[in-house]
Amino acid sequence: MKEYNVAIVGALGAVGSEMRKALEERSLPIKKLKLLDIEQNVGTKLPFKGSDVEVELSCNEAFEGVDVAFFAVSDKVSRMLAPEAVKRGCLVIDNSSAWRMDENTPLVVPEVNPEALKEHHGIIANPNCSTIIAMVPLKPLHEKAGLKRVIASTYQAVSGAGIAGLDELRVQTGQVLGGEPIEPKAFAHQIAFNLIPHIDYFEDNAYTHEEMKMLREGRKILSLPDLKVACTCVRVPVFRSHSEAITIETERPITPDEAREILSSAPGVKLVDCPETNTYPMPVDTSDQDLIYVGRIRDDISSDGNGLTFWCCGDQIRKGAAVNAVQIAEKMVEMGLI
Ligand SMILES: NC(=O)c1ccc[n+]([C@@H]2O[C@H](COP(=O)([O-])OP(=O)(O)OC[C@H]3O[C@@H](n4cnc5c(N)ncnc54)[C@H](OP(=O)(O)O)[C@@H]3O)[C@@H](O)[C@H]2O)c1
Repeated sequence: MKEYNVAIVGALGAVGSEMRKALEERSLPIKKLKLLDIEQNVGTKLPFKGSDVEVELSCNEAFEGVDVAFFAVSDKVSRMLAPEAVKRGCLVIDNSSAWRMDENTPLVVPEVNPEALKEHHGIIANPNCSTIIAMVPLKPLHEKAGLKRVIASTYQAVSGAGIAGLDELRVQTGQVLGGEPIEPKAFAHQIAFNLIPHIDYFEDNAYTHEEMKMLREGRKILSLPDLKVACTCVRVPVFRSHSEAITIETERPITPDEAREILSSAPGVKLVDCPETNTYPMPVDTSDQDLIYVGRIRDDISSDGNGLTFWCCGDQIRKGAAVNAVQIAEKMVEMGLI
């Protein structure tokens, strides 16, 4: 079996760290792992499969001899470095939003649209974390009933904003409980004991960029250019795992029982839906998990028919980022594309 030289760019960040863990746990055959990050972090030793790997400087030349590079850095850094990596024969799987809407770049959730991988030109984009979490259950429901419209509200964990977001909730919680003044840095307002209905920047239509990602990326992944989507994204004081309340309108009727049956065997989904025993998805249960938990499935009683509503949770650092990226590489091996 072929083994691959693999790099993680942004190795010390929230996604980069989880990527190292995912590569250790999963089956991608790795010959050598390179960890790349900024100058201040060069020389840091991080464990991988029983050895210590030293962090190297992330620069153009670092991609020589690398087969697959997992990027876990900002859009700006990805725009700068990904083409340099591709020039050196490296396949880039990118977690930022830099390439997601580029027409030459496949945007892939392996359970949903693996066939798009065949069209790559060196870069594959990982969708936004909330989009991935929604797509995994939406795809099998779409196959059964035909999606017409999606209304989603997200409850997004602070780690979606990286290490800085995690630190801010930790520090602020102590400060608020101790009656000390707080100084928001990672978020626009206090996040401890608060909700912030604002993620990423506001676009001209008064929706945030994060909200518009659900529409634009969802249409691209599902190949449904006319899908109607309205989304509200909210940052919540939860350390890890995003939650989403999703209501759909479909072309054909689908009952909650039919939806439960479909989702009970859908790839990447775990059905957790038993109101009698207070059993439903919650972020504390999905943290450190790779499946999207789906429950609270019921009729949309406000619709004229063909409406269904549900609740789902997923670990946005794992399935919403690191694990989805590693699954993309695994799928490409399986499809004989690398
Ligand atoms: N967190 C999530 O749940 C999540 C989910 C989906 C997608 N994403 C996306 O994934 C990317 C990484 O997010 P994150 O949450 O992991 O952020 P993060 O925790 O801030 O980590 C980013 C890492 O990249 C390093 N870095 C900065 N400039 C670099 C360069 N030129 N070369 C190599 N490394 C560099 C940073 O170092 P310093 O901190 O020292 O600057 C840090 O270690 C972002 O595009 C984000 O939007 C994140």
